[in-house]
Amino acid sequence: MSEQTGTEKVEVQDNITTTTTVTDSITTTTSTTTTTIEETKTKETEIEHTGINPELTLINNPIIMNKLAGYQFFEKILKSPKKIVAPMVDHTYLAFRMLCRKYGSDMVYTPMMHSKNFATQKVYRKDNFSTCPEDRPLVVQFCGNEPEWVVKAAKYVENDCDAIDLNLGCPQQIARRGNYGSFLLDKPHIILPIVRALHQNIKVPIFCKIRLLPNLDDTIKLAKDLQDAGCQLLTVHGRTKEQKGQFAGVANWDAIARIKKELTIPVIANGSVLEYEDIDRCLNQTGADGVMSADGILANPAMFSGLNVDTIQVARDYLELCHKYPTQLGIARSHLFKMLKSKLDLQADLRDQLHQCATYPELSEIVEQLDHRIKTNAPQVKVLSNKEKRELKAKQEQEQKDQNTTTTTDNTNNNNKRDNNNEDETDQSDKKKVKTNNDKNNNEYVILTKDGASEPVPMQN
Ligand SMILES: Cc1cc2nc3c(=O)[nH]c(=O)nc-3n(C[C@H](O)[C@H](O)[C@H](O)COP(=O)(O)O)c2cc1C
Repeated sequence: MSEQTGTEKVEVQDNITTTTTVTDSITTTTSTTTTTIEETKTKETEIEHTGINPELTLINNPIIMNKLAGYQFFEKILKSPKKIVAPMVDHTYLAFRMLCRKYGSDMVYTPMMHSKNFATQKVYRKDNFSTCPEDRPLVVQFCGNEPEWVVKAAKYVENDCDAIDLNLGCPQQIARRGNYGSFLLDKPHIILPIVRALHQNIKVPIFCKIRLLPNLDDTIKLAKDLQDAGCQLLTVHGRTKEQKGQFAGVANWDAIARIKKELTIPVIANGSVLEYEDIDRCLNQTGADGVMSADGILANPAMFSGLNVDTIQVARDYLELCHKYPTQLGIARSHLFKMLKSKLDLQADLRDQLHQCATYPELSEIVEQLDHRIKTNAPQVKVLSNKEKRELKAKQEQEQKDQNTTTTTDNTNNNNKRDNNNEDETDQSDKKKVKTNNDKNNNEYVILTKDGASEPVPMQN
């Protein structure tokens, strides 16, 4: 039996009712069948929530038929990427992606974008997504909890990327409030229909990025369910959603290894890949097809190249790319803080000046000053905490008092002074001298030098 109702086509065959709805070129198919009460209840919840039936058989779908499956896609289209740059909100925009590609990254993700905002707001799309022909292979990541919005968002970019990734790992409060990211990991009735709808409607393959659930067997079940729903590559971040911030700890590569063994699609291992040597360690321990790095790549965007490239040079390259691929200044500044962190920690006044930069030339100027100080072996500059300021003040007052006392004693006992002089001088030359300077924010800095090597750090006011 077949019945056409507007854009809806209903077919009933062998106790299975199939309803196909076409809206704005998004096709969702639902079907119901005779089954146990328990199964029906679960299915009803899912259908109620999403309009899509989990038992959907996706035969004869031209979109799916035209996609290469699993490893075929991974090898032929993506060229078996091993070194992958993680999706990073506020960071993996076009200029940074191109920088990573220059330095050995095989595949790069966009930052997570909110599917409903992307689907409905032109400004959001313009602010958050841009690409160029060289920006490939590229994976665009969305978060969301409704198939309709995720599919609509993905439609906008399906011609400009190699795959769409569903974020199932974001552990932040904003994700809890919005009910997306890692807060969906234990809600398969929400996420599986999204993956099915994407697989069914989007030209490019669908990937997922998950965190670990508290129980590994549950994580394995989820991973298999995602695979069955049409997910063609799974990234596993080897931490639970509770392991974040100061509680992040080391990623669990053994758990990733267990998950990898159970799946037939490519698996990417994520977490604790901080330097070049970690790549092979992680691949060997997990058996994964590739590794994904976030923090390591932010600190050293050339990490995947295995070359010892000075981060000053990387920063210069990045600023050049920001001219070619316009980037919000705040984003560029944030990258500079991260890639130059270890150097800026030793030049606190420059670090504070970087905070104040309001133009690209000012950013470049800080990079050049930093380079100059390193090359000239300039003394370290440290910002004083309030406690250190008090201690410094007390020390200076004490020194002043001592000096006054010495002067008085000098006047009355010249012979004694001469006897002790050598010893005092030896002591002084080994001590670190402390000088202070202020910037326009009234931050007080100390310049830590050895006697004779001191050179006041010029402040830019
Ligand atoms: C600044 C920053 C932004 C991030 N944004 C995202 C994001 O948009 N989507 C996502 O799936 N994960 C995001 N993450 C998590 C990383 O992709 C990655 O899973 C996590 O940092 C663990 O990898 P790591 O140990 O190499 O840092 C972000 C991480 C950082 C540090």
